[in-house]
Amino acid sequence: MGKEKRFYITTPIYYVNDVPHLGHVYTTVAADVLARYHRLNGRKAFFLTGTDEHGQKAEQAAKEAGHTTQAHVDFHSDVFRQLWKKMNISNDDFIRTTEERHKSVVRKVLQTLYDKGEIYADDYEGWYCVPDERFWTEKDLVEGNCPDCGRKVDRITEKNYFFKMGKYQQWLIDHIKTHDDFIHPPSRRNEVLGFLAKKLGDLCISRPKARMPWGIDLPFDSEYVCYVWFDALLNYVSAPGYASDDQSFASIWPADVHLIGKDILTTHSVYWPTMLKAAGLDIPKKIFAHGWWTVEGQKMSKSIGNVVEPVKVAEVIGVDSFRYFLLREVPFGLDGDFSCDALISRVNVDLANNLGNLHSRTLKMLEKYRDSKIPESHGGTEIGELEKTAEDAYKDYANHVENLAFNKAFERMISLCDTVNKFIDGNEPWKLAKDDSKTQSLDDVLYGAAESLRILARMIIPVMPETANNMLEQLGLDTDRCGSAQWGGLQPGTHIKPGDALFPRIDDKKAKIIRSAMPAPKKEKEGAGGISIDDFKKIDLRSAVIVSAEAVKKSKRLLKLQVDLGYEKRQLVAGIAENYKPEDVIGKKVIIVANLKPAKIMGVESNGMLLAAEDNGKLVLAGFSEDVKGGLSIS
Ligand code: MSP
Repeated sequence: MGKEKRFYITTPIYYVNDVPHLGHVYTTVAADVLARYHRLNGRKAFFLTGTDEHGQKAEQAAKEAGHTTQAHVDFHSDVFRQLWKKMNISNDDFIRTTEERHKSVVRKVLQTLYDKGEIYADDYEGWYCVPDERFWTEKDLVEGNCPDCGRKVDRITEKNYFFKMGKYQQWLIDHIKTHDDFIHPPSRRNEVLGFLAKKLGDLCISRPKARMPWGIDLPFDSEYVCYVWFDALLNYVSAPGYASDDQSFASIWPADVHLIGKDILTTHSVYWPTMLKAAGLDIPKKIFAHGWWTVEGQKMSKSIGNVVEPVKVAEVIGVDSFRYFLLREVPFGLDGDFSCDALISRVNVDLANNLGNLHSRTLKMLEKYRDSKIPESHGGTEIGELEKTAEDAYKDYANHVENLAFNKAFERMISLCDTVNKFIDGNEPWKLAKDDSKTQSLDDVLYGAAESLRILARMIIPVMPETANNMLEQLGLDTDRCGSAQWGGLQPGTHIKPGDALFPRIDDKKAKIIRSAMPAPKKEKEGAGGISIDDFKKIDLRSAVIVSAEAVKKSKRLLKLQVDLGYEKRQLVAGIAENYKPEDVIGKKVIIVANLKPAKIMGVESNGMLLAAEDNGKLVLAGFSEDVKGGLSIS
């Protein structure tokens, strides 16, 4: 009998020309949730991620950094590996396309296809962009220039190798049409069918080595290397052991799900299946293309300066909460926006106020009324209803996870929290505790709440593994002894071990730290060249000496200041009280905006604004180290 087929899930392999960002973490966390979910439910999983290390971009980035290409790809591949540890990613393998185990498979597939006549040599004629080292067709050009960089292109004819992709066009269309589950979401399936409505050409799979040496040599012509996408896609079969470990490969392939972003849909749903078909291999069961994140409404990009660094976010918000936010916030498949407000509100509303609060109040009542032990359940009417609700919620949740509708799955988890919170409120255990004739009812309410928590913990194991374990340990269990999703797993008599709150609420102070840790987009420029000097001159910046300071009543943040401008004294209100005591600022030589319209702040008049820098939520006043009098104009 063959080995049990493992649930095989992949992420794209990431380019090593850049630092990892939110988009990389998104796909990888989603894959991790699926892998953990299936393992929890008794399925063996094989979860693969890795790095895509050949090609122009890696070589160029290495050159720019002044490293050898190998040293560069080694370093950046390790950055991804370390990040996955920090993000608690449970991948079973990590493939690098520069590893021999991968390269030998690429060579083998190339040779097989060449021998079968699926790859042929031909002259390739097209418009070539030298700086981008890329061919374009006539219709790609924009006003006769490179559509990517806008520079001049040259007409070039060169010999290359082609894969007969076009001959699989009808087969692929038929496959997509007869396998609804193959490409998700349906909008992406339609997009691919739209693409296939036009004639599908053959795929150029070689690059002359003289131009692009950083790649895998074609086994049948050493003057050429393999096109980076043809090489990269094969990672999905080289890692599980194609052509090296038949038993392993048979127990893993075909992939159950390839998770990708919407931008790499064509390569995965057109190039990849046709390559597999030509090589005589099964094709993946499902390709799921998720949407893209913007950041505070803007495209995430290095030039805007708003690239979200996952480690920073995880440091301030916690790895589990970050993972939860990513999958709860936006339907998988649609685009979404990453904002501090959304992040903070999600943690506070769903996690701290709802799930966290339910957990702590239940444990407190068990401590107070049942000596920290799980009571018996006597099957009263309310608990019967709760049992059904919890089991139904779990079924819905499981269905959603299996369909990759993560946001709906966690919405269902939160709706169960709501129900249990209402169940507690409605049954008023604090009143039952005062009535000796209601001992059994109180047992039922407490058992119901605690057992619901066990089921809720089971729901969050895949997305918040650390928190789930903590939650279960406080209930006297742990992830390995969590039990099934069926009601009744929690044994009466189990000792609970209440600990810290699962999710401390994000208060204003912490929110400020979170905001300052997030990337601030560079200020939008006016036109191409920034603001004019005339615009700058509109701001009247002046030196000023602080002569007195006092706290503004009922405010933790505000100080009322009198400043000396030489030609006059001014009253200002500044939000610096959390960082400066009134006595610390007297005598300081600061910079103010002197021509702001007067404003009332908490009832106190303010005539100007003090300048300060913000560092991780801490304000530092801008001023002078040398002696300076008040009222001088700053330009
Ligand atoms: N190396 C190729 C994949 C080869 S797989 C055989 C590649 N790498 S990548 O590093 O550029 O991108 C990896 C993934 O990150 C893609 O799925 C892409 O969609 C995703 N994202 C990049 N920016 C993103 C957002 N702003 N939001 C969400 N995902 C995004 O492509």
